[in-house]
Amino acid sequence: MDNRPIGVFDSGVGGLTVLREIIKVVPDENIIYFGDTARVPYGPRDLEEVRKYVFRITEFLCQKNVKLIVIACNTSTAAALKDLKKTFNIPIIGVIKPGARTAVANTNNMRIGVIATKGTVESKAYDYEIKKIDESINVCSIAAPKLVDYVEKGILEGKELDKVICSYLKPLIKKDIDTLIMGCTHFPLIEKQIKKCTGKNIRVISSAVETAMDVKKALKNGRAIASNHSKPTRKFYETGYGSHFFEVGKMFLGEEINNVESVSLEI
Ligand code: DGL
Repeated sequence: MDNRPIGVFDSGVGGLTVLREIIKVVPDENIIYFGDTARVPYGPRDLEEVRKYVFRITEFLCQKNVKLIVIACNTSTAAALKDLKKTFNIPIIGVIKPGARTAVANTNNMRIGVIATKGTVESKAYDYEIKKIDESINVCSIAAPKLVDYVEKGILEGKELDKVICSYLKPLIKKDIDTLIMGCTHFPLIEKQIKKCTGKNIRVISSAVETAMDVKKALKNGRAIASNHSKPTRKFYETGYGSHFFEVGKMFLGEEINNVESVSLEI
């Protein structure tokens, strides 16, 4: 038994989509969530720059005595997961491998599409993880940077958003994909809109569920599951001010978020 918190982070609110699934499978765990809202979006930045942010956030979480870290951000996972694992002596789980695994399990025609940030697409991390499982699968990736901005602004529906989504997805649909990975943790917040554009013949995948399963497995293997709390604690940190944690979080997690602290994390 280990009642220390799990640390979960993202550039912004997108990681809440992963947190929701984690809470479902390990509801007794204490959680610290970190959103780097002063520096969001990560996607257009150089991966080396993102790597610096990710290392600083990981240090911050380790100072808070977390027992395991979830990088609830594809761009950060692509930029730094390997190096973080070499540097920090606690279990660290990213979202790309679980997403790739889920997509491979779902495709029938061996054509998988990925929409993600520019950083994730350019890293080719999904191509690598998918082809590691099955070399014969065709992967087609598109960067969809505008979608992160919509979600961070709390714009989760509307005609304008639908139009932008469809313009990103058109080339993927033309490639005859049967499975689409939402390769950015912000995107499950607009999953309904994405599905409106893909139609019923394309399966839309988020890595959140599989990532949460990996968290449970890691806690079990390390004998680090929390003992039954009457009420587990959730603490939220952000580097910006007044972002959409309250509204988005409430809507998405199905619980109030009233414990947000703003911190300045000098890099
Ligand atoms: N949510 C993040 C991801 O999964 C990044 C969005 C961004 O900051 O550009 O890639």
